[in-house]
Amino acid sequence: MNSPEFDQYAKQYDHVLGEAIPESLNEDGYFAEYKVALMASRLRTHKPKRILDFGCGAGRSLPYLEKYFPESELYGYDLSSASLEFAAKRVPRAMLFSDWNEIAAMRFDVVIAANVFHHIPVSERLKALTQCRLILAEGGQMFLFEHNPFNPLTRWIFERCPFDIDAEMLKMRSALDMCREAGFNSEQHGYTLFFPRQLAFLRGFEPWLKRFPLGAQYYVQMAS
Ligand SMILES: C[S@@+](CC[C@H](N)C(=O)[O-])C[C@H]1O[C@@H](n2cnc3c(N)ncnc32)[C@H](O)[C@@H]1O
Repeated sequence: MNSPEFDQYAKQYDHVLGEAIPESLNEDGYFAEYKVALMASRLRTHKPKRILDFGCGAGRSLPYLEKYFPESELYGYDLSSASLEFAAKRVPRAMLFSDWNEIAAMRFDVVIAANVFHHIPVSERLKALTQCRLILAEGGQMFLFEHNPFNPLTRWIFERCPFDIDAEMLKMRSALDMCREAGFNSEQHGYTLFFPRQLAFLRGFEPWLKRFPLGAQYYVQMAS
């Protein structure tokens, strides 16, 4: 799906997403926060100076980036300028861009791409990931979060979500291959989101389950 289509959804992004997820599974903010919390726990004591939210959209991750990384400079990039207007309202201190040329020369300690790559046409994904590697500062790291196509509930929600109509899910195996092709030298990965709200007390076990391809989403942490 390209930017004009996302421009259409910018105003009601949260609402459209909420409608696609059944009430029993919907936890406003949880899905955005868990990614940033996971990233923070994997970065441990590392304090990134600059963080780029690649494909930040309407800025759902930005408040959590602000919460978990209060000292970092926050940047967002998205093709959809209409979405960036909402992101700017969410976190006014974030610096937002829709033109890659404006950030291509900058260097970031961390880049996060949350549910972005399944919206990028397959033929353009490697180029996008390579661009993300090239803007990393020395020792910088990239975190990619994607839906797990092997989880039936994820598939069901994906098929109901209007802005996923033209999207194509990215298997973890393909993401790992792409990460090597893009020139990253090391990666760590795992499946996440195994338990719904009703079983939230079990979420502490998720790191031990990360090899089981049943989590609703997965992450790949890359370094060059
Ligand atoms: C499902 S939304 C996710 C937004 C945000 N990351 C989040 O977690 O809420 C996907 C976003 O990816 C953006 N996008 C699609 N292709 C892109 C590309 N090639 N470069 C940057 N952003 C892109 C879309 O405009 C859209 O805002």
